Amino acid sequence: MQLREGTPADTAACVALFTASVHQLAASHYTLQQRHAWAPLQANMAFWQSHLSGLNLLLAEDARGLLGFIGYANDGHIDMLFCAPDAARSGIASALYAEAEISLVAFGVTYLYTEASLLAQPFFQRQGFHSLEPEKVQRGDISLLRYRMEKHLY
Ligand SMILES: CC(C)(COP(=O)(O)OP(=O)(O)OC[C@H]1O[C@@H](n2cnc3c(N)ncnc32)[C@H](O)[C@@H]1OP(=O)(O)O)[C@@H](O)C(=O)NCCC(=O)NCCS
Repeated sequence: MQLREGTPADTAACVALFTASVHQLAASHYTLQQRHAWAPLQANMAFWQSHLSGLNLLLAEDARGLLGFIGYANDGHIDMLFCAPDAARSGIASALYAEAEISLVAFGVTYLYTEASLLAQPFFQRQGFHSLEPEKVQRGDISLLRYRMEKHLY
């Protein structure tokens, strides 16, 4: 597996992985309706282009293609972290997170935060985050539960 910085040309592959990841991996914690509200099958590509261009984007790949990606901001916000369904529990997200944390530390960040899905909560706990209050996200008339989580580096 290799890590590399993402570019706008990677947007379509990231959206495809995100959609597959939500619909397959998150099926254990969110209903079909919730998954469609979170990851509509007709993605808003203009939104994605704009959103990813405002983040540091790091991709994990091997000969099969894209295995996962992380999007993070220089204020310590871990905005997105997804792995491909057939690569789950093989350390992809851990490798991406570790590299992002190294680069944020180099940037001078000492506080990291995220909004973790119910599925991602144990992952972030494993990375040293702790959970704050649960949040309800409203997508149309569907609501989804997630947890604000944070990690102090020093
Ligand atoms: C959460 C997610 C990014 C984890 O990716 P991953 O590459 O499978 O994670 P890793 O293999 O690096 O896992 C590292 C550790 O985190 C914990 N962990 C990861 N996924 C877990 C799960 N589903 N349940 C419990 N613990 C989990 C485990 O401690 C794991 O170590 P182990 O496999 O040795 O037990 C992935 O499941 C995903 O993309 N989920 C769907 C979308 C999502 O919820 N994304 C996050 C949005 S906030």
